[in-house]
Amino acid sequence: MCAAPMPPLAHIFRGTFIHSTWTNPMEVLRDHLLGVSDSGKIVFLEEASQQEKLAKEWCFRPCEVRELSNHEFFMPGLVDTHIHAAQYSFAGSNVDLPLLDWLTKYTFPVEHKFQNLDFAEEIYTRVVRRTLKNGTTTACYFGTIHTDSSLLLAEITDKFGQRAFVGKVCMDLNVTVPEYKETTEVSIEETERFVSRMLQKNYSRVKPIVTPRFSLSCSETLLGKLGNLAKTHNLHIQSHISENSSEVAAVKNLFPDYKNYTDVYDRNNLLTNKTVMAHGCYLSAEELKVFRERGAALSHCPNSNLSLSSGFLNVLEVMKHKVKIGLGTDVAGGYSSSMLDAIRRAVMVSNILLINKINEKSLSLKEAFRLATLGGSQALGLEKEIGNFEVGKEFDALLINPKASDSPIDLFSGDFFGDLSEEMTEILKKFTWAESRWYPFQAQCKTLGLYQLWDYVVLRLPCARAELESQKIVSCSWDDYFFLCLVTVFT
Ligand code: GUN
Ligand code: ZN
Repeated sequence: MCAAPMPPLAHIFRGTFIHSTWTNPMEVLRDHLLGVSDSGKIVFLEEASQQEKLAKEWCFRPCEVRELSNHEFFMPGLVDTHIHAAQYSFAGSNVDLPLLDWLTKYTFPVEHKFQNLDFAEEIYTRVVRRTLKNGTTTACYFGTIHTDSSLLLAEITDKFGQRAFVGKVCMDLNVTVPEYKETTEVSIEETERFVSRMLQKNYSRVKPIVTPRFSLSCSETLLGKLGNLAKTHNLHIQSHISENSSEVAAVKNLFPDYKNYTDVYDRNNLLTNKTVMAHGCYLSAEELKVFRERGAALSHCPNSNLSLSSGFLNVLEVMKHKVKIGLGTDVAGGYSSSMLDAIRRAVMVSNILLINKINEKSLSLKEAFRLATLGGSQALGLEKEIGNFEVGKEFDALLINPKASDSPIDLFSGDFFGDLSEEMTEILKKFTWAESRWYPFQAQCKTLGLYQLWDYVVLRLPCARAELESQKIVSCSWDDYFFLCLVTVFT
């Protein structure tokens, strides 16, 4: 018999759950039960041995439990803390110039085209579909200066069930492409219109974010007014900071009365505990301290930083300063729209700092996994809602199915001599770095209550422990196995 009447559960899963906590960058919970309420929230996550007790408490029958296969597991949805939706139209090309020339030659002319709503609709639909396919269940988007197409981006994002912040870009300075800018007054009025329309729409998972492009695109008046607007409505804020050395020098020149780049945003009320700033490669210790004091976050975009030859963010140093940090693709400065790519590049950049003896150690892949999930949720102020499988959060998850038939990896029996856990570590490294390919994907959308919820996105990974075992090639620990699956999808 059940205890007191409880609201019915939407799902009960039994199997493996892998996520990060603040004390453990990758926790593997084998044979656990997770319950999801009708409103999409996690109501319990306990060892499967507790099934009888949970069934009484939550009133479910054994036939209602969906058992994952041995090789399957859930992980949290990936969080892209910085992506330019409009720039997806040229992702994968045009990364042959440094930032300021790149903006002038490629980016501004393309963004200018988004006044055409048909064009915007095509690109925005594709970027939302693609990022979901890549496992990004939450994205922090820059649109363009056009209010209506930015509203369209929000509508499309909501329609597909992706969680997002969407920003109408603000810029009243543009010397090199003057047709792509607004007057100060229009920028403010249109941001107010954008925010008020977004608040009217009251999307459950898509929210507005105040978006001054960067200090070089905004007059002091505009920055100040945007800061006040964000304060009045308690809004999130996003921008760029200290990405490239020429940019930093130009900001110094344009804002001589400010202490540094951080001070430009700070004194205009744009550095708050709801702010996420992309890059920050050249921030000083003093500036990081201000970030920490304000509770502002950084978005580390390693692909972009390498592709545009911008710089190296020292993530370990940022973490030492206890500044919130997540990962971003920064499409299209970054050519990949996959957060899995961002994870690998973050480790690569950290390795470069190690090689150059700037750091004594590198960021581990597990730590990078945490940055892409829990870290990202914190950077966007969503840590109470998503990021891991804590009870009370939304069940925002990817179901990983490693039994895909088209594995790109060749295993050799010689790889598996000696101590297996030691050997596996080496093989994981090999898998991580050796291949680069996309994998088939299948997504599932269910209707829960009044809204559509991406219950979970199914990613199919190209390695299967059972297959390896049946070939008598390997018998690895489960921890090693799941880590292997995760690093493999990161290719
Ligand atoms: N700084 C100002 N605008 C941009 C942009 O669109 N991309 C990147 N990477 N940096 C910027
Ligand atoms: Zn950017």
